[in-house]
Parts: sequence; structure tokens; C-alpha cells
Amino acid sequence: MPEADNEGKNYYTDIPQKSEAFFLKGSNEYGWGMKNRLARIFSPQDGKTIMLAIDHGYFQGPTTGLERVDVSILPLVPYADTVMLTRGMLRSVVPPSTNKSIVVRASGGPSILKELSDEQIVMDIDDAVRVNACAMAIQVFIGGEFESRSVVNMTRLVDAGLQVGMPVLAVTAVGKDMKRDARYFRLATRICAELGAQYVKTYYIEEDFDTVVASCPVPIVIAGGKKRPELDALRMAYNAIQAGALGVDMGRNIFQSEAPIAMMKAVHAVVHGNETPEKAFDLYNEVKSKAYE
Ligand code: R5P
Repeated sequence: MPEADNEGKNYYTDIPQKSEAFFLKGSNEYGWGMKNRLARIFSPQDGKTIMLAIDHGYFQGPTTGLERVDVSILPLVPYADTVMLTRGMLRSVVPPSTNKSIVVRASGGPSILKELSDEQIVMDIDDAVRVNACAMAIQVFIGGEFESRSVVNMTRLVDAGLQVGMPVLAVTAVGKDMKRDARYFRLATRICAELGAQYVKTYYIEEDFDTVVASCPVPIVIAGGKKRPELDALRMAYNAIQAGALGVDMGRNIFQSEAPIAMMKAVHAVVHGNETPEKAFDLYNEVKSKAYE
């Protein structure tokens, strides 16, 4: 016999059941699994994310700072919301007991010795599910030699992701000789969003970055780019967040810093703590000096 139903008790008939709108820009119409994965990347508390990008080896081999991911990078993982990496590095180095969300690199092919826009999808959706990824990342080369194929690759990944509730992060890759201005980034990010990417990564630019964010209907996160002085990198992250970016996907400016854990904490202060770059830089110096005490 099932347990007796205590009629009239605990039904809270005076409290209507809540139905909340999803917190993330442009993401309200997705299914539960897709939203849950996005909520493991973007903090439901403030809607922002710090992605630690360490996937550079997929086309350039053992990048400075990533020679030994087990030694240099694993200690940084607790300070990130998400780690972006290849499935090879994930399986060989990251303990499966981690509770951090994973964004897995799903495109590749050419090395730095060849035409970089010549990428393909390099991972089945089944494997992304198998490693419990929260999103798949793919480069999109707007204006690049293999522009169309990279866009179509992205749409294939989006279709596969929709089958299982897995978001796609479109990474706007800019050719060496191409102009990095608001007009270009509005074009590139908008194409990615229009064709189904659940969020888009792009570079920060000083002028009119807010128009790039405004014209993209899904969240934008910024890449860190080449290593620059810590205060400059913090200023970039701060300005991007103030202009509406919902996070950073930062690699070299963290793992090539003199004090990567201090830098993680400083970036955290800017992204999740709304701290000014100057105050965050003070924090960086404080943590760095303690590490050397
Ligand atoms: C490059 O294509 C990779 O996707 C990196 O993850 C990305 O560029 C972010 O890393 P970084 O902050 O070093 O630019």
C-alpha cells in the first residue's frame, strides 16, 4: 500500500507555482538541458562567466604557459567558472572529479603551418555528451578563405547540439591582415547568432564595442588575446563587461602572467565583483607578493 495522502496538508493552495524567465540574454526559448548547461557556464547569480581558455594546443602545439597543463593549469581551475579545452587534454589531464563545467573544442584540422581557416568539425556530438561537456566551441572565419565552410560547420554543430541540449560557442577568428573594428565584429558576431550559436566569443575593441554587444542577440564573451601587462588586461575585461559582455574567455593573459593565480583572482574581482581595474590590480599585487613571501 502506498503511504496515505494527508489530505489538505502541504498543498500550499494559496501559493501559485513560480515560472521564471531564464536569466541569460536571448536564451529563454531553449529546452531544460540547454539552459542547465548554460547555467553551469554563466553564473545564475550575476549572469557572467570566467572561462579559462587552454585549448591553444589544438593548432599551435605546446604554447608558452601550457607546456605542462597538469602542473601549471590545474591549480588555476578552482578560480574559473568553466574550462575551455580539447577532449584530448581533458581526458589525459583533468580529473573527472572536477565540478567545473567544460567547454570542449570541437573544430580543428590545420596547424599554424597552414591556412587556419581550413577547419573541420573534429568531434562527434556523442563524445561531447560522453565527457559531459556544457558546450562545444568552434571557430568561424568571417572574411577568411574558408569562410562558408566554417559557417556551415558551425550550423552542423548547432543542429547536433540542439538534438541533445548542448550549446555551441562560436569563436570569431580574425585573419592576420583583417581590420579589427566594430563594423567587422558586428558582422561576424551577428552571423554566428543568426545561424544558431548559443553564445559568441569575440575580441574587445576600444571603439563602439557596445554596438557589437547590442546587435548580437545572444551573450558575448571576449577573448583575452596576446599577453599584455596585467593592468591593461584587467582594463580590457572591465571595459568589455561595462559595455555589456557577459564574461571573458581568457587564456594567455592568465597562464602567461607572472602570477597566474593572482591574475585569476583579479579577473574574478572585475567580472563577478564589479571591481575597478585599479582595485583588481592592487589585489593582483597583494596575492602575488604573498605567494613570494
Ligand atoms: C584560440 O583560438 C583559442 O580558442 C583560445 O581559446 C582563445 O584565443 C582565447 O585565448 P586567449 O585569451 O589566449 O586569446
